[in-house]
Amino acid sequence: MIKKCLFPAAGYGTRFLPATKSMPKEMMPIVNKPLIEYGVDEAIQSGIAGMCIVTGRGKHSLMDHFDKNYELEHQILGTKKETLLEDIRATIDAASFTYIRQKEMRGLGHAILTGHDLIGDEAFAVVLADDLCINPNQSVLAQMVALYKQFRCSIVAVEEVPENETHRYGIISGQEIKDDLYRIDNMVEKPESGTAPSNLAIIGRYILTPDIFDILKNTGPDKNGEIQITDALLTQAQDGCVLAYKFKGKRFDCGSVKGFIEATNYCYENIYLQSDTHS
Ligand code: G1P
Repeated sequence: MIKKCLFPAAGYGTRFLPATKSMPKEMMPIVNKPLIEYGVDEAIQSGIAGMCIVTGRGKHSLMDHFDKNYELEHQILGTKKETLLEDIRATIDAASFTYIRQKEMRGLGHAILTGHDLIGDEAFAVVLADDLCINPNQSVLAQMVALYKQFRCSIVAVEEVPENETHRYGIISGQEIKDDLYRIDNMVEKPESGTAPSNLAIIGRYILTPDIFDILKNTGPDKNGEIQITDALLTQAQDGCVLAYKFKGKRFDCGSVKGFIEATNYCYENIYLQSDTHS
């Protein structure tokens, strides 16, 4: 039903300089696995097999990661180290990967519009790999795909954040139509402090219906010259229906150093040490 997932991955990752000077921020590892691989695995767990990645200059290692490395595989063939490649091999086998280059950075809405040719005319998921979401029972995207099957409209993931952090997110307000599900009536991208319509912040997981592309084409830039998906979704919400879903699970903001370290500690304790591939 949702067959493709778009990964905007063209950004510079300036908050992690100098680490991201020549390495894509999506390749920063949480323990021993790059951030983007967590996102791709989450999409696979949601029944999605088409990974559409919007890249930019200097992102070749992303493409190499989701491909065979014959020399390396030959070197470690038959050794104990081969088990370390099991997960990524399974990921590569379970999905197809297509790429498109975003030539200029003009905001998340522009990145999503850049992916139009890869997605085509069907509903699709969007994962922002910076937001690492973990739920061992049902991934956050899988929860949203299940909701899409029922409601057939665009859905954004939301989480309650402290009031002094609302200026860092897209913020929604709406009517709660059932437990943890809101019909959006307003949304604002990074509201100035004291003006947020609620404390429900959009997290980097979206299901979007394909009419979003035409809306994005007609969405003007914000005061920073960026085209925001939040603005396009507000238009969609005013003309029809957009839902916000307070997801079940943990989320780490790996776009910040603090969130990155918290994610690292959590994954080390709860995933890495629990698996037997590292011994
Ligand atoms: C983007 C979106 C914002 C959302 C956030 C979630 O912002 O524009 O609405 O709340 O992702 O991570 P960014 O963090 O790319 O500035």
